[in-house]
Amino acid sequence: MSLLEVRGLTKRFGGLLAVDDYRLDLPKGEIYGLIGPNGAGKTTVFNLITGYIRPDGGSVRFEGRDITGLPPNRVSELGIARTFQNLRIFRRLTVMENLLIGRHKSYSYSLLDTVFMNSRYAGEEMDGEREVREVMRELGIHEYADRLAGELPYGIQRLVEIGRSLLTKPKLLMLDEPTAGMNPKEAEELISKVREIKESFDLTVLIVEHRMKVIQGLCNWVQVLDHGRIIAEGTYDEVVSNPKVIEVYLGGT
Ligand SMILES: Nc1ncnc2c1ncn2[C@@H]1O[C@H](COP(=O)(O)OP(=O)(O)OP(=O)(O)O)[C@@H](O)[C@H]1O
Ligand SMILES: [Mg+2]
Repeated sequence: MSLLEVRGLTKRFGGLLAVDDYRLDLPKGEIYGLIGPNGAGKTTVFNLITGYIRPDGGSVRFEGRDITGLPPNRVSELGIARTFQNLRIFRRLTVMENLLIGRHKSYSYSLLDTVFMNSRYAGEEMDGEREVREVMRELGIHEYADRLAGELPYGIQRLVEIGRSLLTKPKLLMLDEPTAGMNPKEAEELISKVREIKESFDLTVLIVEHRMKVIQGLCNWVQVLDHGRIIAEGTYDEVVSNPKVIEVYLGGT
């Protein structure tokens, strides 16, 4: 059984068919890639799966359960985490604070506990910090724990966002152009970091990327989207040698 199974997913924006009959069978433990030119519908697919927008048709099943149209917080609770093409972090909070927010959904103390800082809260907060430190070490950003996120290089900010998503304890991690704004060295490092966190957090990964090197270095299977439709899928080598894909990327020249 696939961890994530998508069938007939469709989304219109006015007269534009942004996603048209999209399907996916993503087995547990795999890293799949979703590529395609600007405006192909990649982010819309992510938004549909994670509940940020509702589909006009089709279904999304996660661990066999129908999650179609559930709101983002429910999707997150069920074990799907995503990052955003346009980085979403709190620039005026520290790295530690940004990551503690990711852990928030698993806190069990009540609001009153928070206000009075009772012992249960203190206990959980310590556990929380320990988990956050582990994640920071894993991503190699522990030295920035007390720095304001907005003051750090873009590549580090991207890792902060990934770290926050990991703290929601996902089974499926969806990365929307994680190397956007990174320099080539940071992008190279991201490849090995994604491999590492996949193993240590027992993740399945779906990644949208424009850098082919990242797709080649990570993905066992690649789908190519153009004008909302899957025009090719297969291994990296198969899709990059597919004439339809070459045409889409080179504009038919
Ligand atoms: N909320 C929205 N309202 C109207 N149109 C939208 C909305 N979101 C996306 N679109 C349109 O849907 C199409 C697909 O957009 P989407 O952002 O999914 O593409 P993408 O493949 O992620 O592109 P990019 O590589 O540039 O990120 C585009 O034509 C876009 O303008
Ligand atoms: Mg996009």
